Amino acid sequence: MAEKSFKYVIVGGGVAAGYAAREFAKQGVKPGELAIISKEAVAPYERPALSKAYLFPEGAARLPGFHVCVGSGGERLLPEWYAEKGISLILSTEIVKADLTSKTLVSAAGESFTYQTLVIATGSTVLKLSDFGVQGADSKNIFYLREIDDADKLVEAIKAKKNGKAVIVGGGYIGLELSAVMRLNNIEVSMVYPEPWCMPRLFTEGIAAFYEGYYQNKGVNIIKGTVAVGFDTHPNEEVKEVKLKDGRVLEADIVVVGVGARPLTTLFKAQVAEEKGGIKTDAFFKTSIPGVYAVGDVATFPLKMYNDIRRVEHVDHSRKSAEQAVKAIFASEQGKSIDEYDYLPYFYSRAFDLSWQFYGDNVGETVLFGDADPNSATHKFGQYWIQDGKVVGVFLESGTPEENKAIAKVAKVQPLVSSLDQLAQEGLSFASKI
Ligand code: FDA
Ligand code: NAD
Repeated sequence: MAEKSFKYVIVGGGVAAGYAAREFAKQGVKPGELAIISKEAVAPYERPALSKAYLFPEGAARLPGFHVCVGSGGERLLPEWYAEKGISLILSTEIVKADLTSKTLVSAAGESFTYQTLVIATGSTVLKLSDFGVQGADSKNIFYLREIDDADKLVEAIKAKKNGKAVIVGGGYIGLELSAVMRLNNIEVSMVYPEPWCMPRLFTEGIAAFYEGYYQNKGVNIIKGTVAVGFDTHPNEEVKEVKLKDGRVLEADIVVVGVGARPLTTLFKAQVAEEKGGIKTDAFFKTSIPGVYAVGDVATFPLKMYNDIRRVEHVDHSRKSAEQAVKAIFASEQGKSIDEYDYLPYFYSRAFDLSWQFYGDNVGETVLFGDADPNSATHKFGQYWIQDGKVVGVFLESGTPEENKAIAKVAKVQPLVSSLDQLAQEGLSFASKI
């Protein structure tokens, strides 16, 4: 099969790839120089929509409505945009082999692609219960959510099992967002997770108590401290029951599993330096191999503010890392330099009529402020994280755009605080003063 050659290739066609393409165009990439090779059948889109508006019972988001870069208020890049710019969008094409020495990628269909500069943007894949040997985990109507095809299967199941019962396995981002959207579809929801409270990788017990109370008020049955150990099925192989480790059995027409993700680095194993499960990069997203960059979920990069190296699995970083890498590629070609990546971590989620934002680092002592009563109508509350006398992280539920800007500034500036009690009393007004 003929070999196709490009000056630049992005492998992966998700959020980072889309934002990288926009930056390539800004930097003046010439027609024919850039290709994006993606396993998915559609042009890059804003992945966060899949667990939110894509699953709404009415007025659901559909492509082309949420192609990148609408999620950050930018231009929507339709497939025509790539064609106009002379960017090859090579879709439904999975790369199964990468040779960084000969600078060649090979697809599942046997096509070869060569490049001068490679941007790795393969993102993450879901952890599966079958990977842990959970009995019956391959039964029908057990779903995972990563790509648009997964979301389409879930949409079909929601239609087929109208007013049915769902069990959501996992108490992280997917667990919380999917439990909410399933309730909106009038499905009976039980949510199961092993930890003492939901989203322990970010939430403290105080934050989680609000969300758990709020979800229970919306009719979500929360089952903590146990895991799914098996699934029983109907004769047609559709899931019927979820068996829990504590002996309980839950009826289910649909199961959605969100038990974490794993960065897709397999193609490059033993060819490139790795760290903390990801591909190690510098502050320009350059890997250990010249001409090879890694961005988004797969990159383990220097987080300058905290003098640490980390991987971040959130959309804001995937966009910004992609832009940084492309700027660095053009700068190095022109013998120029650009500033190091200096990222302020930013995560958010939306579910029901709730919306939270978090900036900074969730380490140190904590101070909860505001109205965290799940029964209250306002439910505007937040939390500060304080380390070495400085505020290093801030969480806010139901903030206005100005308030969210204020908490971002606090996390960036890291103001000193003299008393935690005073901080608790001042609450949001502390952030507004900075
Ligand atoms: P991303 O996963 O977007 O793209 C990777 C692409 O590479 C995919 O198109 C994949 O098919 C392709 N690919 C992989 N291997 C390949 C191969 N071998 N050959 C060809 N193509 C290959 N974050 C946040 O901050 N707020 C939010 O609300 C949400 N919501 C959210 C919902 C859902 C359902 C998910 C799954 C994730 C989120 N996230 C999020 C996380 C966020 O979406 C995520 O961090 C970014 O999409 C990461 O961008 P990447 O481009 O790195 O990977
Ligand atoms: P996660 O890491 O947020 O949560 C995983 C959860 O799985 C844990 O909190 C735990 O409760 C649970 N768990 C682990 N093992 C379990 C088991 N055996 N049985 C039951 N529960 C178990 O991962 P996720 O929610 O699956 O999200 C996947 C990816 O998608 C992540 O990269 C995440 O950042 C991303 N995502 C982000 C957002 C957002 O930022 N708003 C939204 C959706 C998805």
